[in-house]
Amino acid sequence: MEFEPVLLRHLGVPGIQHLETYQAQGGYQGLRRALELTPEQVVQLVKDSGLRGRGGAGFPTGVKWGFIPKNHPGPIYLCVNADESEPGTFNNRILMEGDPHQVLEGTIISAYAIRASVAYIYLRYEYGRAYRILQRAIQELYDHGFLGRNILGKAGFNLDIYLHRGAGAYICGEETGLIESLEGKRAWPRIKPPFPAVQGLFHKPTIVNNVETLACVKHIIERGPDWFRSIGIPPDPNNPRDMGSFGPKLYCLSGHVNRPGCFELPLGITARELIEKYGGGVWKGRQVKAIIPGGLSMGFLTAQELDTPLDFNGPIKAGCLGLGTAAVIVLDDQTSMIDVLYNSCRFFAHESCGQCTPCREGTAWMAKILARIRRGEGYLDDLDILLEIANGIGIMPGTTICGLADGAAWPVKTAITKFRAEFEDYIRNSRARLHPVREPIRSH
Ligand SMILES: Cc1cc2nc3c(=O)[nH]c(=O)nc-3n(C[C@H](O)[C@H](O)[C@H](O)COP(=O)(O)O)c2cc1C
Ligand code: SF4
Repeated sequence: MEFEPVLLRHLGVPGIQHLETYQAQGGYQGLRRALELTPEQVVQLVKDSGLRGRGGAGFPTGVKWGFIPKNHPGPIYLCVNADESEPGTFNNRILMEGDPHQVLEGTIISAYAIRASVAYIYLRYEYGRAYRILQRAIQELYDHGFLGRNILGKAGFNLDIYLHRGAGAYICGEETGLIESLEGKRAWPRIKPPFPAVQGLFHKPTIVNNVETLACVKHIIERGPDWFRSIGIPPDPNNPRDMGSFGPKLYCLSGHVNRPGCFELPLGITARELIEKYGGGVWKGRQVKAIIPGGLSMGFLTAQELDTPLDFNGPIKAGCLGLGTAAVIVLDDQTSMIDVLYNSCRFFAHESCGQCTPCREGTAWMAKILARIRRGEGYLDDLDILLEIANGIGIMPGTTICGLADGAAWPVKTAITKFRAEFEDYIRNSRARLHPVREPIRSH
């Protein structure tokens, strides 16, 4: 049976960006239902649903909300992370442009749940259309009593939403970088703890959530946590740390496929099904060489790993960092992994904020080594040096402040371990072409 879209169900409905049409389609029923409950009850429903953050880390949303100190005098802030700069990811843009009130309804419900009086939408700078659409929708909400003071007659529930255009860097999407940027500073991530839920924006308790996460909240309140848990993959009984992967997910499919796009499917669909059934297969009749399962920073899966379920655990079991943003990029069999990895390393070296030496130096060195390999001046030993650098940087080995360095390392680790023969052949052959009289040099 085909999956009925939930998050994308309004896409293409004429005028859906306007409050009147959205309400005519049943919009803001979730908010009305939430206002009948206490904030604690709303948090509990979200906890019960098993919703995990859609921004990359997959942290349980209700649990994160529960970290806000009890009886805090406020203000408490909600930051909507709409920076969306992970390469290959565009689901937030589609939600904000296509159905802005759905995002805003989720935002208002979530602000009510965590007792936030101000919400900031931190919007990727390049998203000019989303900016205009959201700004108009926010104004409509003020005009009709959905924002401001005593919202929909609920005494004491006051909320203002500010739309803030981002500073145009990948690191602005990291939650504490985002907070610094909102405070008007350079987006340098903060050392944690303290976590934002305890001390975030302007040193006050702050929750940062992704756009898609908040859109899911609206439906959980409207349809109930059991409905949400009926979609996706339950926890693995053999893994006590597995929290399951529940709910619908927006998969962004791009690269060498016939029909790229954003597809709403139950969490856990396999990469093969996504590419073949929804993406119409690999373009030009070619085969898959590799895919990126969840945004560039997750690393690579090989053609033999296409049956990996794209839930929160599947890509990890297949040697990647995780599901990330579920942005799947397909690379066909004529793609050079050397070129792909070179581009990846250049991106992360450029986007590193430079605070932590292992990240600043490590990403730059990986990019330089890849550039040299690509020029035909690589050594076979370079591959082990790249792995050594990649294994030494990141939050996982505990050498950096934020996850950018991990994101830079996993493409390197997975490309070199899974496609080593291609790298070795390239180094041997290109060196032989450049230096025809000498054998390929094995060491420095
Ligand atoms: C370098 C870096 C960039 C990130 N960029 C984004 C982003 O653009 N959007 C996003 O929602 N989360 C991004 N994140 C994850 C956020 O730090 C945070 O985990 C997320 O916004 C929390 O929301 P969620 O719990 O709803 O997923 C990024 C993380 C890192 C390390
Ligand atoms: S890991 Fe990299 S991007 Fe993150 S804070 Fe350190 S230097 Fe900046």
